[in-house]
Amino acid sequence: MGVEPVTARRPALAGQDGALLHLRGLSAAYGRLVVLRDVSLSVKVGDLVCIIGPNGAGKTTLLKLVSGLLRPTAGEIVFGGQRVDALPAYRVARRGITQMFQDVQLCPTISVLDNVMTGCHVWSVAGFLSTGFRSRRARTEESMIRAVSMEQLSALGLADRARAKPRELSWGEQKLVGLARALVARPSLVLLDEPYGGLVRDEIDRLTSLLRDLTADGMTVLMVEHLTDVVMDVASRVVVLHYGEKIADGLPQVIRNDEKVVASYLGE
Ligand SMILES: Nc1ncnc2c1ncn2[C@@H]1O[C@H](COP(=O)(O)OP(=O)(O)OP(=O)(O)O)[C@@H](O)[C@H]1O
Ligand SMILES: [Mg+2]
Repeated sequence: MGVEPVTARRPALAGQDGALLHLRGLSAAYGRLVVLRDVSLSVKVGDLVCIIGPNGAGKTTLLKLVSGLLRPTAGEIVFGGQRVDALPAYRVARRGITQMFQDVQLCPTISVLDNVMTGCHVWSVAGFLSTGFRSRRARTEESMIRAVSMEQLSALGLADRARAKPRELSWGEQKLVGLARALVARPSLVLLDEPYGGLVRDEIDRLTSLLRDLTADGMTVLMVEHLTDVVMDVASRVVVLHYGEKIADGLPQVIRNDEKVVASYLGE
C-alpha cells in the first residue's frame, strides 16, 4: 500500500444545484433555551463560508448540528444530497464532514503526531482486532497513517513538534494540530470553530495560505471566526448570526457595508 497524498479526498458530492450542504429551517435548543431559530443556508463545493456574530449568537451550536454532535429541534441538514441530521457524529464524519473545535481538545497524554493520527480512524480499514493482533495489514496501514499525519504536520510547519506533548506547544500551535487532525480525516467539508483565535501573525498568514490552497483544491470550509480582517480577506461568503437568527448572508464586501450588520456586530 503506497502513501496516498493528504490531499486525496473523497469526491465532493455536490447535488444537482452544485451545493454540497443545505441547512433548512434549523432550530436548536439546550433544554428550554432556544439558541437557533429557523436558520437556512447553502454551501457550494469550494466555498469558504464564514459565520460571524456576537458571543452567544449560536455559531458553535450551528457547527455542532452539522457535525452531528447535537440534534436540531427543527429543520434538516442535507449533505451530498442526503439527510444527515439524524446520524451520530461518527457516521457524519465517515460521510466526509470533520470538525475542529473552538477549544481544540487534544489528548494531553499522547504526542502531537499520535493526536493527528487519531483523525485517520474515519477512513482506516484495519479495525481494533487486527490492530490488537498486529496483523501485517494493520502494521502497513499504521505506517501509512503515520506518514500521512506527518505530511499534514509538515504542511502546517509543525514537523519538528511531532514528538512533543500538546502542553509543550503554544496555544496557536495546538490549534494548528487540531486542524491537522481534522484534515487527515480527508473531509469534503471541514468545520472550523475560530481557527485563528490565539494565533500569532506568522501563524495567521500560514493558516490563510493553507485555507486558500485547500479550497482551490476542492475542499469546502464552513468556519466560525471573530477576526473580521481575516474573514473579509478569506471568505467567499459571510453569514451573520444574531441572537440565534440569520440576519445577513452575502459577499464579504456587501456584508461589511450592511447597516444591520454594522449596527449589531461590526460596529462594536
Ligand atoms: N451545553 C450548553 N448548555 C446550555 N447552554 C449552552 C450550551 N452551549 C451553549 N449554550 C448557550 O447557547 C447560546 C449559544 O452558544 P454558542 O456556543 O453556540 O455561541 P457562539 O456564537 O459560538 O458564542 P462564542 O462567540 O462565545 O463562541 C449561548 O447563550 C450559550 O450560553
Ligand atoms: Mg463559539
